[in-house]
Amino acid sequence: MNSSPRIALVTGATRGIGLETVRQLAEAGVHTLLAGRNRDKAVEAALKLQADGLPVEAIALDVTDATSIAEAAKTIEDRHGRLDILVNNAGIGLDDAQLGTAGQSLDTWRTTFETNVFGLIAITQALLPLLHKSAAGRIVNVSSLLGSLSQHQDPASFIYDFKGIPAYNVSKSAVNAWTVHLAHALKDAGIKVNTIHPGYVRTDMNKAGDEQKGELEVADGARTSVRLALIDDAGPTGGYFYLDEVLPW
Ligand code: NAI
Repeated sequence: MNSSPRIALVTGATRGIGLETVRQLAEAGVHTLLAGRNRDKAVEAALKLQADGLPVEAIALDVTDATSIAEAAKTIEDRHGRLDILVNNAGIGLDDAQLGTAGQSLDTWRTTFETNVFGLIAITQALLPLLHKSAAGRIVNVSSLLGSLSQHQDPASFIYDFKGIPAYNVSKSAVNAWTVHLAHALKDAGIKVNTIHPGYVRTDMNKAGDEQKGELEVADGARTSVRLALIDDAGPTGGYFYLDEVLPW
């Protein structure tokens, strides 16, 4: 039995839910790679957590940049030889709610999908060989309740009328669908793949000017990612969760 600490990577981790996910994984004893688009910001954030005595390492990673992805994969292979946990946390929301459901530009759709969907798939593909080297690989895709098609079709759901940011919502539905496909493909490989809603969290994504929206602090917003990252072999795969709750697709 390999007693070395588990190795995790969290994308988009220089702030918000990602940064807190790194902190909580490291507090659980996982050697955690804090990945950020901007290398300097990643190093700065990692140094702060290292100063608290946490096993955190910075790595540069832009999930929309093939060269950056290849370099990150090579760095992890050279330094660690495997990856146990991948938390696909990086995400963007670009819709202009004023433009409505049908009015978002194709550029908004494409750019949103480039990060939230294609970037997530690209980094997953690049790191899968290293996850296959883990004794118990785990992939957590950070989606949103706004990706739930059944909730969007249910007039009783509070998201029923929340259709003004369609590129973001549909990108998260795509993440959910990809999760189901990948979990099936990996079901006999010991790699568990789940998708999560972090909650409505007080981060930059929910900030408009000086107004900070959100119901949860980041400490609680990271809890679902961390829980699914640390599930044991009896844990679920191909599921959609918020905390301990199973969400409807
Ligand atoms: P945030 O805006 O504070 O953090 C997003 C992070 O992703 C940033 O660090 C950003 O630099 C990074 N990022 C963006 N594009 C990237 C790229 N190409 N490569 C690498 N990193 C990139 O937002 P927050 O709230 O922390 O969001 C984290 C995740 O949680 C996102 O996937 C978001 O969609 C999801 N989410 C957030 C909710 C909330 O209420 N805050 C609700 C539901 C889902």
